[in-house]
Amino acid sequence: MNYNFDEKIDRKNTDCVKYDGLKKFFNVDDAKPLWVADMDFKTPDFILEDLKKCFDKQILGYPIITDRIYESIIYWYKKRHNINSFSKDDIQFTTGVVTALSACIEALSNEEDEVIIQTPVYFPFYSVVKDNNRKLILNPLTNENDYYTMDFENLKSKISKKTKLLILCSPHNPVGRVWSKEELEELMQICYENNIIIISDEIHSDLVFKKFTSILHLDEKYFDNIVLLNSPSKTFNLAGLKSSYIITKNNKIRASIEKILIKRHITTPNIFGIESIASSYNKGEQWLDMLLKYIKNNLEILNNNLNDNITFKEPEATYLIWLNFKKIEDTHKNIFQRLLHNSGLALNDGITFGEEGNKYFRLNISLPNKELKEALIELNNEFS
Ligand SMILES: Cc1ncc(COP(=O)(O)O)c(C=O)c1O
Repeated sequence: MNYNFDEKIDRKNTDCVKYDGLKKFFNVDDAKPLWVADMDFKTPDFILEDLKKCFDKQILGYPIITDRIYESIIYWYKKRHNINSFSKDDIQFTTGVVTALSACIEALSNEEDEVIIQTPVYFPFYSVVKDNNRKLILNPLTNENDYYTMDFENLKSKISKKTKLLILCSPHNPVGRVWSKEELEELMQICYENNIIIISDEIHSDLVFKKFTSILHLDEKYFDNIVLLNSPSKTFNLAGLKSSYIITKNNKIRASIEKILIKRHITTPNIFGIESIASSYNKGEQWLDMLLKYIKNNLEILNNNLNDNITFKEPEATYLIWLNFKKIEDTHKNIFQRLLHNSGLALNDGITFGEEGNKYFRLNISLPNKELKEALIELNNEFS
C-alpha cells in the first residue's frame, strides 16, 4: 500500500481550528498555520471507510463499547509496544485525553492538594490543575543546549504531605523527549516512596523516532501508582473525534475515576470515536510506519534549510519542534509579530507552555514537504 503524504488538502473554510481559527487565535485573516497539533495529512482511508460504515447502520443511536474495541487496544500495545500487562478490565473510556486528565485530578486528589507538572509543558496541564482548585507545583525541566532532562533533586525538594499527583508528559510536548527507562524509574521511585500517583499522558507515544518506554514497561511493583492516558487521535489525525482511554491496574483508583466519569457524564465517546479506536489499532501499523518516515524526512528538510539564527534539538518524538530564537536580538513579543506579519507564519507562542518558553516558538512540521519548504523560505528571509 502506498499513502500520499504529499497531497495538499485544502482545509480552509472546513471549520477546522488550525485554519479557520486564525482570526480568533492570531487576529489575522490569513497565515500559514504551523501551530495546533493536528496534521495536514489526510486521515487514513481505512479509518474514513470504517467511519462511513457507521452511517450504513442508518441509525446513529447510543453506542455500547464491545469487546472488539478493548481487544484492539490490547492488540496494539502488544504489537507496537510489546506490552501485555493489562487486560480489558483495566481499561476505561472517555471523551479526550485532557478530559481524562481533568477527571483523574478530581478523582485522585482533594481541593488544595498539590499536583506537580514539569515545565515547559502542554498548556492544559496548568489549567486542569487550577480549574479543579488544586495547587500547581512546578518542577522545571533542566535545559542544556535544548536537551531537556528531569530535575530529580528539585522534585524531591518540592514534595510535601499535600502532594498527591504528578502529571507526566511522555513523550514530552513541546520539548520532544522520549524519556529513558532509567529516567522513568528514578521518577517512579521518588513518587512511589512519597505515595504520589503518576498520571502519564502518552498521547504522543506512537510518534517516536527511538524506542519508547511506557510507564507500563516499568516494574510491576509500581503499577498501583500508575494511570496511563492515551488515544489514537494524534497518531492517526483524529483529534476532532474526542475519544480516549484510561488504563490503570489499581482497582481502587479505577473505581474512583469511574465515579467521576459517571458524575461528569463522560463514560462513552461517540460512535465515530469508538469505531476509530478499533480501526486505527487493527489496521494502522503500515500507515504509521510510512508517516514516521515522512516526518523524519521533514525533519531533515528543516535541519538542512533553517538558517543558523534559529536552532533546535532534534526531537525524539512528535512532529512538534521547539524552535529557539535566542540568537535573534529582539524581544519575544516582536519575534512573534514578525513571524506572523512578516513571514506570514502562525506558530505556537512558547510562553504559553511556561515562562521557560521565552524566545521559543513551537513549529508543527506535519505537512507536505513542499509546504514546509515554502514556510522555511519565509522564516529564513525574516530572520537571516
Ligand atoms: C500531551 C498532550 N495531551 C493531550 C492532548 C490533547 O488530547 P485531547 O484532544 O484528546 O484532549 C495533546 C494535544 O496536542 C497533547 O499534546
